[in-house]
Amino acid sequence: MEYNIFVILSMVAFLAVLGAMYLSQSARRQLREEGLAKENEEIKHVLKAQQQMLEEERARIAHDLHDDLAQLLAGTRLALGNLRLEPTLSGRNKSLLLRIDHDLNDLLNRVQNIIWNLAPETFQEKGLSHAIWKMCDQLRELRSFHIEFLEMGEVRRFSSEVELVLFRIIQEITSNAMKHSLAWNIYIKMFWTDKQLKVEIKDDGVGREKAATIGKKDSGRGLIGIQKRAEIIGASVITEEIPKGTLFIVSYRY
Ligand SMILES: Nc1ncnc2c1ncn2[C@@H]1O[C@H](COP(=O)(O)OP(=O)(O)OP(=O)(O)O)[C@@H](O)[C@H]1O
Ligand SMILES: [Mg+2]
Repeated sequence: MEYNIFVILSMVAFLAVLGAMYLSQSARRQLREEGLAKENEEIKHVLKAQQQMLEEERARIAHDLHDDLAQLLAGTRLALGNLRLEPTLSGRNKSLLLRIDHDLNDLLNRVQNIIWNLAPETFQEKGLSHAIWKMCDQLRELRSFHIEFLEMGEVRRFSSEVELVLFRIIQEITSNAMKHSLAWNIYIKMFWTDKQLKVEIKDDGVGREKAATIGKKDSGRGLIGIQKRAEIIGASVITEEIPKGTLFIVSYRY
């Protein structure tokens, strides 16, 4: 009898020890998971702050460019315009002035494009689609690429922070296609559905693998920056194998 009680008590004690071990293990696991989640939150916070600082710095440079260079160029154009009215000016000098005016105008447009790309303010009121239209227009003017932009579904608006991040991601992917792919055509398609925005950016170039052997190796910061930006707003950026060229897909769930 005494022996039985001893066995039962030992078993209870054993089970209690096992239970305590299990509980302490699961408590440790929970603590670890909580720690990881907190760490992730902190990383996201730092990333967000970094991006914000970057955008603020860009806006500052855009402001300086606007107030200094663009104003100076516009003023010089105005002065040239007055000079052209001078009655003593010979025909040859008049046409020279006309050419300088044309070049100045071109320069002013380029500076204005740079300013807009640094701080695309207009899209804050007009939205992401408008910003992509404008970006494509600018690129068409500057380079001899064929860029197509297509949009399907009902357009939505997000916070300007989210729209700016999505714009920067699409801008970098498009600029990569222009810089590295040796493509003739770039297609940007935006699909607005009930639940998510999906943007496909496709080029018909040589593909990333070949591009890496032609140009400099994967040493840039653009693709890393894209992933960091996407993480901040909970978007995803993936590449998909296609027979020719490169396809990036950006998805953002509402
Ligand atoms: N559309 C593309 N077609 C072919 N190769 C590409 C394409 N996009 C990216 N790549 C390859 O991926 C590499 C990394 O791109 P990433 O944007 O990170 O750097 P980068 O453009 O070289 O430099 P950075 O963006 O910092 O100015 C490029 O150097 C290129 O080899
Ligand atoms: Mg790049």
